[in-house]
Amino acid sequence: MRAGLLAAAWLAGIQAQETFTAIELDRSEGGALYEARCMGCHGPDGAYGDAGDIAARSVELAGDDLVRVIIGGVAGTAMSPSGLTAFEAGTVAAYLRFVASDRVTGGDAARGREFVSNDGGCLDCHAIDGVGGLIAPDLTGIGSRRRSGQLRDSLLDPNAEVRTEYRFVDARLRDGNTVRGRLLNQDTFSVQLLSMAGRLTAISRADLDALEFIDSPMPSYGDRLTSGALNDVVRYLTTLRP
Ligand code: HEC
Ligand code: HEC
Repeated sequence: MRAGLLAAAWLAGIQAQETFTAIELDRSEGGALYEARCMGCHGPDGAYGDAGDIAARSVELAGDDLVRVIIGGVAGTAMSPSGLTAFEAGTVAAYLRFVASDRVTGGDAARGREFVSNDGGCLDCHAIDGVGGLIAPDLTGIGSRRRSGQLRDSLLDPNAEVRTEYRFVDARLRDGNTVRGRLLNQDTFSVQLLSMAGRLTAISRADLDALEFIDSPMPSYGDRLTSGALNDVVRYLTTLRP
């Protein structure tokens, strides 16, 4: 009972605040719990599967009803009780409402696919279903791993959130040349890169003058895509599921 009251008070606080930013909540406990415990059935945007659009539902439901469902599940369905504490369930509830508010709607997947495969040049760097480049993350199945809002942000601001395994460097050599590529590994004796041309390259420390981290090579598509065309690309990416 006490825990329920606390969660209700906490949710009311969130509703009153309304100023939380995408980044803060995205990285919050609620987002991590959602990914671990809920995403398999409900998808990154909360809209997969038989349950329908639970992110939209989370906005319709009163805060404590939502928390109650998240803790107790829905009797007689695949959604069994989660065993989350009231506080944890409150963070998941807040995250679900954020997902609903940050979602990209509309868009035409066929048009998006056309841009990605041709004018967008995306496959110079990324692979989809075995076709494309190696230096950037494989986008096969990306729609089951990222929310539409995250996909939009990746296209507008590629440097905002870069996974640690995708750090790029300029390796300046003593002979005056520079090798640019994705840093794979480094130890006392050598530095290993995947060059921009997709070639595995090992550079001996003795030949290396300096190693400089550089920005993501992915260009921002903010000025190349109208907001409608951006939605098309995001829509297409959300259809890439295993
Ligand atoms: C094993 C799959 C499964 C998992 C895991 C799961 N759910 Fe569900 N969920 C469902 C199904 C199925 C329904 C639809 C139940 C029904 O028919 O009303 C549902 C319904 C819901 C609803 C809507 C309830 C309503 O009253 O309309 C919400 C909200 C929800 N889930 C949130 C979550 C959250 C948050 C988690 C993680 C803590 C989670 N679910 C984990 C399968 C799952
Ligand atoms: C010049 C190479 C290059 C091009 C062209 C490029 N990307 Fe990227 N992209 C990257 C790299 C490198 C990363 C990983 C580092 C980062 O997040 O910026 C990335 C990250 C991403 C991510 C985030 C992946 C994740 O796991 O979260 C998405 C989504 C994405 N790109 C989609 C696209 C789409 C769609 C296009 C074309 C419209 C495109 N990229 C064009 C290099 C590129």
